Amino acid sequence: MPSISKKGRSMPESPIRKLVPFAEDARERGVEVIHLNIGQPDIKTPQVALDAVKNNTIEVLSYSRTEGTDQYRKKIANYYAKHDIKVTHKDIIVTTGGSEALAFAMGSIADSEDEIIIPEPFYANYNGFAVAAGVNVVPVVSNIEDNFALPPIEAFEACITPRTKAILICNPGNPTGYLYTREEIKKLAKLVLKYDLFLVADEVYREFAYDGAQHYSILQEGELDDHAIIVDSVSKRYSMCGARIGFLVTRNKAVIQAALKFAQARLSPPTYAQIASEAALETPQSYFDAVIKEYVGRRNILLEELAKIPGIKVGNPQGAFYCIVELPIKDADDFAQWLLEKFEVNGKTVMVAPAAGFYATEGLGKNQIRIAYVLEKEQLISAVAILKQALNTYPKA
Ligand SMILES: Cc1ncc(COP(=O)(O)O)c(C=O)c1O
Repeated sequence: MPSISKKGRSMPESPIRKLVPFAEDARERGVEVIHLNIGQPDIKTPQVALDAVKNNTIEVLSYSRTEGTDQYRKKIANYYAKHDIKVTHKDIIVTTGGSEALAFAMGSIADSEDEIIIPEPFYANYNGFAVAAGVNVVPVVSNIEDNFALPPIEAFEACITPRTKAILICNPGNPTGYLYTREEIKKLAKLVLKYDLFLVADEVYREFAYDGAQHYSILQEGELDDHAIIVDSVSKRYSMCGARIGFLVTRNKAVIQAALKFAQARLSPPTYAQIASEAALETPQSYFDAVIKEYVGRRNILLEELAKIPGIKVGNPQGAFYCIVELPIKDADDFAQWLLEKFEVNGKTVMVAPAAGFYATEGLGKNQIRIAYVLEKEQLISAVAILKQALNTYPKA
């Protein structure tokens, strides 16, 4: 048989999806699985977005412009202006999800064997994009003890080599829920300017900032014109994960030119999805206020319930809708599988994401899981109660 590429063989499996077959088996046995493992919000998509597609009278579903329509990109630039981010439509490429923006960003700034520094734990798919681009991920550890705040800037500096091309952050963080402060962003800005690196920020959870905290974007740093690249998405903002629309945003013209060539190779982002996403920009503030209130309520309930479990540690997430939980066990992969294969309470069990896959450093995160609080409060309460009983029963605890 012809052989599979080295790249293909080293593509990491998603830590979130690899347990799916066990969840399916559980369901076949009649066990209800509560999903704490995946960031698919249950929030309704804004009606304006759905109506825009429903009421559309397109006769030919044609390609759009490679970088997205001018009209849509101008509206996106207005959206950013409201967030104090000064860009024009020429600084924006509409992509097929934030995922494609990440792939274009890596492809545009790094060659094979170049290095990108990322604080860990990080969104697991960064590993996949790095393998596809041939780029080496260099992790800098952040800790649950200080809520996964930005590690000391010296730790980043110590990792910089002639092959370093960029620092990549996720703000607010998946899987940590950590929201970087303005001061932390300023420290990173100073560092990338000193070493002439790119600073890539995945800001797909921008709106999800809690407790009065303000999200501070890397593009609010005026000095980062040539160095800052934002990865963005409509997926979580409007609960439109299936639309597959995102953006790559930078004031660096050379990056736009390079990314545009990657974009040309895939012709255009999806047309219907752009129509829906353009209309979604009309979503009233009241929608976001209600959604944020809901997530804050869910986070508070989750943290309250988790606090009742002895021996666990959890950060206090101020953004996105995830948190890392440290459990009094040795191997969260085994625990997560055991939950699906061997455990149930009144016909129910929970599915969690083992956190090791969110780390690049071997051995880290083995006793941690990621929880996504994208379920209603009652579901979260029963899920944590199941988790508590499971920890009492788990034979290897
Ligand atoms: C941090 C982060 N970045 C990027 C993405 C990709 O999102 P999409 O491709 O749906 O825009 C996700 C999805 O969960 C995410 O959590």
